Amino acid sequence: MSDPAALDADFTRLPDLPAGLFTAPLQRPAHVGEDWVEPRQTAYSAEEHRVWDDLFARQMEVLPGRAASAFLAGLERLDLARGGVPEFARLSAELGALTGWSIVPVPMLIPDHVFFWHLANRRFPAGNFIRTRAAFDYIEEPDVFHDVFGHVPMLTDPVFADYMQEYGRAGWKAMRHNRLKSLGALYWYTVEFGLVMEPEGLRAYGAGILSGPAEAVFALEAASPNRLFLNVDRVMRTDYVIDDLQPTYFVIESFADLYRQTVERDFDRLYRGLGAGFSYANSAVIDVDNVLHRGTLEYHLRGGRGSGALPV
Ligand SMILES: [Fe+2]
Repeated sequence: MSDPAALDADFTRLPDLPAGLFTAPLQRPAHVGEDWVEPRQTAYSAEEHRVWDDLFARQMEVLPGRAASAFLAGLERLDLARGGVPEFARLSAELGALTGWSIVPVPMLIPDHVFFWHLANRRFPAGNFIRTRAAFDYIEEPDVFHDVFGHVPMLTDPVFADYMQEYGRAGWKAMRHNRLKSLGALYWYTVEFGLVMEPEGLRAYGAGILSGPAEAVFALEAASPNRLFLNVDRVMRTDYVIDDLQPTYFVIESFADLYRQTVERDFDRLYRGLGAGFSYANSAVIDVDNVLHRGTLEYHLRGGRGSGALPV
């Protein structure tokens, strides 16, 4: 077993996890190694390529004027509109030339420490499979459309690309402090569901918003959700739900602002001050919040997903 203190220092190889560290109990498929990387990307059928194209077309009906300009620029620079599921090798070469990142295919959700290790080495693990038409609107595990369309364009932005690497490096430290849930909340409210204030107005940069059918309009325009300026200490104390629209979104002023607030923060000190659970419900507005919009919470008060409530 390795020394826990050394766990977050050396990112060149996967660590032996110290005993007692909690990691999600995932069963590694026999055909992948310890890095969980698939030997090769799936060969998609013509129908699977069409699913990608239809998902792409649907998102592009709502994203112009709503997605962050860095995201839209990334889509263009990587030519993700060329049709069909992108080839990871080509994408990695193009992304590598821009920010040094690459994309590696993985079979499914992978263990936290492996995920962090890839990010720390500027490799983004992307789900290999693509959803079926039956699961067109809602998927339980991230597929290639969520991972590549949702996440990869943002990796063309140099500051955001650095943030993602630092997030990976922070992961092992969070494991050592037993604060993975707190760090997970930061990922959730930035990388997956973050909003950014641009000169032309509020825009979405979170992959969970950008890759789904309804959340971009809800996150930016509905009266229901709270929109609060990001405060890292507060976000890391905030609960989150993974199976419905968010009651609260956190807004950054720029990616440099996000980088400053997180990477330049002393996380050792922060972790020592955090409790083991979350202090704030995901719908709460608290004293310290810098509020951009206080939501009516109508959608969630009416029961949210499955209740027939309109996302207003
Ligand atoms: Fe994601």
